Amino acid sequence: MAAPPEGPHPERKRRQLYGRRKGPKFSAHQQSLIDTLLPQLHLTPEVGRDPRDYFAVPLHDIWLEVGFGGGEHLLAQARAHPGVGLIGAEPYLSGVAKLLSKLEPAPVPNIRLYTDDARDIIEALPDAALDRVFILFPDPWPKARHHKRRFVQMELLDQLARVMKPGADLRFASDDADYLAWTLERIMAHPAFAWTAASAADWKIRPADQPPTRYEAKALHGPPVYLSVRRV
Ligand SMILES: C[S@@+](CC[C@H](N)C(=O)[O-])C[C@H]1O[C@@H](n2cnc3c(N)ncnc32)[C@H](O)[C@@H]1O
Repeated sequence: MAAPPEGPHPERKRRQLYGRRKGPKFSAHQQSLIDTLLPQLHLTPEVGRDPRDYFAVPLHDIWLEVGFGGGEHLLAQARAHPGVGLIGAEPYLSGVAKLLSKLEPAPVPNIRLYTDDARDIIEALPDAALDRVFILFPDPWPKARHHKRRFVQMELLDQLARVMKPGADLRFASDDADYLAWTLERIMAHPAFAWTAASAADWKIRPADQPPTRYEAKALHGPPVYLSVRRV
């Protein structure tokens, strides 16, 4: 029997992606950004490809942001770190259009976007390819029967352990106490990760080099908590 195909491929059974892809109808301008600017920035994950090759400028580090929402944090990080390539994954196209509207007047060469499931990128990356990963305010899926929809799963940590360099940082933030406990439990149980907090300030206060996100400003469920986790 033939070996199963490796990596994402359109003919492979699609994994379920939970959450919205479409929001309100696009304005003509938003639609033109999606049609013309997005293709210039969009990457198609290629199995084993060095992620620096997705960019047209030389870069020393690659960071991935999962679910960038409106892209405020992604854009701020890209501007603050021109030598770092920022890959942002976000399937919600209204968020993508929001980011594109900011990139149109002021292009940023160290951003690449993927408008689908971040796991496609992670699975296609070669080993030890990422220097930092942000998972900021992921959808909490509070009902027990929906917990399997949460982005953080043991299998996901296995994949991140593979693609993150030793010493690389995983930044997680949530305002949902249950998702926080869920994530901490899995990180503590995973031999490849170590939570680096030394005092309460380390998880109660947003890291100074991590600009706030749009969702964070609402913090609907409770006070935000910030985890910095090292790939050991
Ligand atoms: C609660 S929002 C937070 C957005 C942003 N991080 C913020 O803090 O403002 C969670 C985002 O994750 C995105 N998302 C959900 N599943 C995803 C996946 N598998 N890959 C990439 N993004 C995902 C959703 O579309 C949504 O925009």
